[in-house]
Amino acid sequence: MNADDLAEIARSMGADDKGLVAIDESIGTCNRRFAALGIPDTADRRRAWRELIVTTPGLRQSISGAILCDETIRQETSHGASFVSLLDRVGILPGIKVDAGTIELAGHPGEKITEGLDGLQARLATYAEIGARFAKWRGVIAVDTDRPSRGCVEANAQALARYATICQQVGLVPVVEPEVLMEGSHDLPRCAEVTEAILRAFFRHADEQRVMLEAMILKPNMVLSGLDCANQEDADTIADATVNCLLHTVPAAVPGIAFLSGGQSGELASARLNTMHLRFRGLMPWQLTFSFGRAIQQPALEIWGGRDDRAQAAQAAIRHRAGCSQAARRGLYDASNEIRRFTGMAC
Ligand code: G3H
Repeated sequence: MNADDLAEIARSMGADDKGLVAIDESIGTCNRRFAALGIPDTADRRRAWRELIVTTPGLRQSISGAILCDETIRQETSHGASFVSLLDRVGILPGIKVDAGTIELAGHPGEKITEGLDGLQARLATYAEIGARFAKWRGVIAVDTDRPSRGCVEANAQALARYATICQQVGLVPVVEPEVLMEGSHDLPRCAEVTEAILRAFFRHADEQRVMLEAMILKPNMVLSGLDCANQEDADTIADATVNCLLHTVPAAVPGIAFLSGGQSGELASARLNTMHLRFRGLMPWQLTFSFGRAIQQPALEIWGGRDDRAQAAQAAIRHRAGCSQAARRGLYDASNEIRRFTGMAC
């Protein structure tokens, strides 16, 4: 695959106001979310849940790509099709989470580094053969008065840049996810400062590692107050802080920025993305979209509860949240329309 082909795939991931759905939780994380709802933590239930999501009727109208994990990309649906062939059939690009999770960063208590660079090229080549078109790697940055350290920011930024170049070499579009966590009592300006630091560091390393900016997607956090901060800002303040931070740090050559939800409710994530589009319409050089996990999945997971007889209702909730996210890209999301959740209509 040449550079132009990769850039075209990256552009297509944000075309038509579509975004990504992240269903790439590790087995452990998926099991924890299942356990909280009394859903058996078996490979079969994880497969059933992910099959339910990707077979949601009409999903392709708002979703351009789905991020899978290693377990799912190797599983077959109940009809004996691979997830990749199923996604291809419905017109959704298959992607794959390729990092190997986080460990404590040596010498930096309380900070994390993401593992998985060793042997990555060979793993990526296998995923490309299976049919993946893009990949995802998540770096995690915790915030408090002393964190993140410069060492943590630099180590994660360099790992993200090295991952991105390896992806492009193998013919996969890298989705680069440096996540500044919402946990903590930090305020919004502190989140902005840390987000700006990790993005600046990433693009410096991306330049050194020869990442093709036109052939990548950035998947950042929104700029938000910490969950335990007394001062929770309104959508206008969040939109201004987030987009200004991105305008200061993300080169115009990057085709798309797709937010993670990070634990925000679907309603809040949609409302905030919507406000960004209302306030910055025509002023952003990149496509500003979504790559939500929980903000699309959570209400549907609660409806499904592991029961196949509730699959259709759960799919209506998936379609609704994906449609709301797309409406937010158009500046057309209206929280008062949430009542239409189960009709399957876009907001
Ligand atoms: O790595 C995290 C996922 O790709 C995004 O999930 O939207 O629930 O934060 P989230």
